[in-house]
This record gives sequence, structure tokens and C-alpha cells, in this order.
Amino acid sequence: MINRHLNSEIAYFCKSLTVEKEDFSFPLPEMLQSRLLVMERIDGKIVGIAGTSRRNSLFLVVKKEYQNQKIGHKLTKKVIENAKKKNYHYITLNVFQSNSRAIHIYRKFGFTILYTNLMGSRKNFFMIFPLDCKGSLYKIYLLTAHKLRPIIGYIPYGPTLCVHIRQLANKIREIFLR
Ligand SMILES: CC(C)(COP(=O)(O)OP(=O)(O)OC[C@H]1O[C@@H](n2cnc3c(N)ncnc32)[C@H](O)[C@@H]1OP(=O)(O)O)[C@@H](O)C(=O)NCCC(=O)NCCS
Repeated sequence: MINRHLNSEIAYFCKSLTVEKEDFSFPLPEMLQSRLLVMERIDGKIVGIAGTSRRNSLFLVVKKEYQNQKIGHKLTKKVIENAKKKNYHYITLNVFQSNSRAIHIYRKFGFTILYTNLMGSRKNFFMIFPLDCKGSLYKIYLLTAHKLRPIIGYIPYGPTLCVHIRQLANKIREIFLR
């Protein structure tokens, strides 16, 4: 739980973002609830922030003026280290295909693309980084489910089956989520 002063500092940081928002649209309340929240400060002021959402999805943003100074690397490393300490099984993330700088960092740390989809009109990569065996199993499960999805439409009772599979998927995610 973070204190009220830090809360408003983070809210102020988010408000001060401008062009960064083109690639970063994480909801503030979810950021504030992150159990893995990390920050970088320069002269006492927050210049970058990272963490994960309730669904283990990574968020990362560095203020434009401070980009390309390895802060993104530093924050990503800290989140991964904290996740390992807290026995998280995996971290996922969504990143626009056009965001080559962020993708470069994520790949360096071991994230791989699981699938591509559209977010609005923009192409999005869904990436995952398993942190242990359970995480690797979850990655295999997600890959299999993704490959099976188009086939299900051709099976009799496909839509009913889809509902059951979605319920099963939610149960499986809960087992692997920390
Ligand atoms: C993505 C972001 C967090 C990176 O932060 P940063 O502090 O600038 O990153 P770093 O300085 O640690 O690293 C930048 C790396 O990208 C590389 N890079 C720079 N421009 C690049 C480009 N156009 N394509 C590929 N790689 C690029 C740099 O060479 C460096 O890698 P290296 O150290 O291996 O040489 C920052 O650009 C940002 O906040 N963007 C807006 C919000 C956002 O996109 N968040 C991620 C949403 S998923």
C-alpha cells in the first residue's frame, strides 16, 4: 500500500506525460495498486515508473526528456527482480508493434511474442516472460489456446464450447496468477 503523498506524486507524474501517452495508456488506479511498483527519481522528481497490473501485465514509462539514459532498462530489471522475489510465475505485456524501442528492451530481458492482435487500428504484440516452470507451462497453455481458437469455430457446438473454454481459461489463469 503506498502513502497518500506518493499517490499524488505519481498522479502528477502521469499528468505531466505528453508524447509518451501515444504508446502508454495504463490506467492510473491500476498503477497505484501495483505490488511491484518501482520508480526512478532525478533531483527528487519521478522521471520513470514501472510495475505490473493485477493480471501480471507490465507497464513502463520514462519521461521524454530522460529517455535513452538506460532508465527503461533499470526499471524493467527492478520489476523482474521483484517479481522473482515474490515468486511470480510470469510477466506479460502489450506493446504496439511500432514501439521498437520498448520491444528492444523487452526482448533483451527475455520476453517473447506470443501473438499479434489489433488494438483499435494499431497492431499489438502480446509478449510473455516466464519466470519459472509454472510460467513456462502457462506460456505453453496460452500458445495452445491461441492456436486452437480459430479451429473451434468449425466444431459442432463451437460457441458453447467456447464459453466452457473461456471459463476453464479463467480458472487456469487464477492458478498461475500471484
Ligand atoms: C520505452 C521507454 C520506456 C524506454 O525507456 P528509455 O529509458 O528511453 O530506455 P533505455 O534508455 O533504457 O533503452 C533504450 C534502448 O532502446 C534502443 N533504441 C533507441 N531507439 C530505438 C529504436 N528506434 N528502435 C530500437 N531500439 C531503439 C537504445 O539503443 C537502447 O538500447 P541499448 O541500451 O541496447 O542500446 C520510453 O521510450 C518510454 O517511456 N516510451 C513511452 C511509453 C512507452 O512506450 N512505454 C512502453 C509501453 S509497452
